[in-house]
Amino acid sequence: MQKLRFILSIYTIFFVSCQLFTQVKEVKQSPIIPNPTVFIQSEGEIEFSSDIAICNLNLPLEIQIYLQNQLKDLFKIKCNFNSENGLIQFKKIVNVPTDSYTINITDNILITYSSDASCFYAVTSLIQLIESQSGINTISKCFVSDSPKFEWRGMHLDVSRHFFTVEEVKKMLDLMAFYKFNKFHWHLTDDQGWRIEIKQFPKLTAIGAWRDSTVIGHANTIPNQYNKQREGGFYTQDQIKDIVKYAQNKYITIIPEIEMPGHARAALAAYPEFSCTGKQHGVEGLWGVFDDIYCSKKESIDFNLKILEEVLTLFPSEYIHIGGDEAPKTRWKECANCQKVMKENNIKDEHALQSYFIQQIDRYLTAKGRKLIGWDEILEGGLSPNATVMSWRGEQGGIEAAKQKHFVVMSPSSHCYFDHYQTSSSTEPLAIGGYLTLEKVYTFNPIPSALTAQETVFVLGGQANLWTEYIPNMKQLEYMMFPRALAMAQSLWCTNKPNYKSFENELVNHQFRVLSLMKVNYSKAILYPKTNLIRTNKGIGLVVSSIKQDEKFEIEMVENPIVSYSNPSVIKTLTSKDTLFFDRLSSSNNTKLATITIKSDVLKKPLRIEVNTNSTIGLPVSFATSPNVKFNNRGDLALVDGIRGARPWKGDEWLGFDQDTIEFTLDLLAVKKIKECKIGFLMANGSWIYLPKNVTIFLSKDNEHWNSLHKSKATEYFSQFVFKKARYVKVKVVSNSKIPEGKEGAGFHPWTFIDEIEIITK
Ligand code: ACM
Ligand code: ZN
Repeated sequence: MQKLRFILSIYTIFFVSCQLFTQVKEVKQSPIIPNPTVFIQSEGEIEFSSDIAICNLNLPLEIQIYLQNQLKDLFKIKCNFNSENGLIQFKKIVNVPTDSYTINITDNILITYSSDASCFYAVTSLIQLIESQSGINTISKCFVSDSPKFEWRGMHLDVSRHFFTVEEVKKMLDLMAFYKFNKFHWHLTDDQGWRIEIKQFPKLTAIGAWRDSTVIGHANTIPNQYNKQREGGFYTQDQIKDIVKYAQNKYITIIPEIEMPGHARAALAAYPEFSCTGKQHGVEGLWGVFDDIYCSKKESIDFNLKILEEVLTLFPSEYIHIGGDEAPKTRWKECANCQKVMKENNIKDEHALQSYFIQQIDRYLTAKGRKLIGWDEILEGGLSPNATVMSWRGEQGGIEAAKQKHFVVMSPSSHCYFDHYQTSSSTEPLAIGGYLTLEKVYTFNPIPSALTAQETVFVLGGQANLWTEYIPNMKQLEYMMFPRALAMAQSLWCTNKPNYKSFENELVNHQFRVLSLMKVNYSKAILYPKTNLIRTNKGIGLVVSSIKQDEKFEIEMVENPIVSYSNPSVIKTLTSKDTLFFDRLSSSNNTKLATITIKSDVLKKPLRIEVNTNSTIGLPVSFATSPNVKFNNRGDLALVDGIRGARPWKGDEWLGFDQDTIEFTLDLLAVKKIKECKIGFLMANGSWIYLPKNVTIFLSKDNEHWNSLHKSKATEYFSQFVFKKARYVKVKVVSNSKIPEGKEGAGFHPWTFIDEIEIITK
């Protein structure tokens, strides 16, 4: 690798030096995403006619077709490949790093490449260099030298929770290819639908591909309500072959995922005999984790091996993903067959039994010349000898696997789960929860800092995942994928990743237009007004800003007992330099609601912020236990800014704690008669967020001598009446130490999410 890098440098220096003989205009950022390793712009440009010649030196046919179609579809340029002396010339060269290419644009365009894949990458870069204005297509003179940083640049799509048609999958592949992703992880089976035709087991699709109902709204909203519509679908083997070929033509490998032993309810609806109980259940219509999984008996393993036998005939990929995540051991503990397998094979517990299950699959795949990859739960109970780990519950799984000298793909939910919200805006469509901004994706580095240099060679790369519980159609899929996929592409491809600000500028100035041209329903969240709350000596202030400098915002406030402006309804035009103050002192002792709406051209509906104003706003809070950095966007101000965390979970308002005991103290600044203490807790078990066990409130006049109120059960809208005098209010929260078996995140410490604390005084 070192040597290859050296060769690349020499090769780059050579071209850079040649380039220096021509007139260098300025070293500006390239319009290509992901950004190439080297980009040097020179003076002048070439104008494309509507009919250009391309010199074809054994260019692979699929690349010719791709180039031809892209030029036609995006720029209405026709091209022919039979010219001896074309405007664009391609040259394959040897002794350069794998997948590297250069583009040298002078009076003509010379592309050199080391592999067919890199030729394809060069073409995608070339397309992005073309500027189109009023029907005139130009390309600036420049030099590009490039190669990928990571070999695994993945995107995942769950087609079980919602089905996507062949044409929709192909559009996703087109978009992935355009931004140089090369692995498509196709999540084909799960509890809510089996999507791949298996000829030996026709009921998998006849029964398993269809569910009778689907939960409405968020699964955390209890009681769940269901629509009664039958929905589903599957891909025939011919369709799958067609898609695999389609992806190959764009230099994308498809890694199929066949889930086992958990997330198997759709398969077990068709063949209940392979579960532990044999009981008939339907295909699941709720999102979550379910106790009925494959039994570990030989018949169930053989069933999966026979399925894989057909899967291997359809997918040439070296890697085959077998899931392995979120498999509750509830049934295995009670199943005579599973217990017999454990006894006969001297297996110590049910985690080791899962390892035994996976090892049999690993042996089969290895014998067929393939490689098993699974979610990081496959580490539990012992990692199978040839297994590669996909780390999703943070980095830890990836770190452990690399230390055991196993290959890993990093896909931590903190940076890679595109089903999470990308903004906390009230206008955002329903999502699973979480908060993953474009900027956070941009900071993703697949190499965990805990690894030594030797261990990092086991990190193949990274991947973004699109789980589709809350993504019912292609429009929403595109919205969740873009522009975050571009930030991910940067993190996985770029050797010299520019800073976030220049990436953001590049999106706004260029790539958004490209996405529109490709008819992508991308999110414009980065253009939305951003609200920021600050604590000042005048009280809490709201600052509104946007990436468009000097944008003016029309802000309206209704029900206004709090705002320094005197009218009950205020309409103001603010710029990013102004601050809007909530005046704590003018508020009454009870909580009152004020609604702030902010209008901006990019927003279809105005942003709405509901502020609960009371005498707690802006008071100092000190933490004895800090919130975890992952969920600590505003620090202590979050608890007293008047804005309650959204339910179902959304955005960055909630503070997240992962300790057994959480303690913080609020200072009322003077001794007051306290009537009531209110605290918000979040319950979102699917996201590992649980109500704590209990809450105890302590009161003090001097911050030294404390009186404890009685310990109370925590509820989502916790409230305790007090009727005592105090200046300091200390809150002690005790959480559960483990998520129970059978739930998402079983065995992990649950999160406690808190927002907001309100003290009602007399
Ligand atoms: C996963 O998100 N359950 C891998
Ligand atoms: Zn069993």
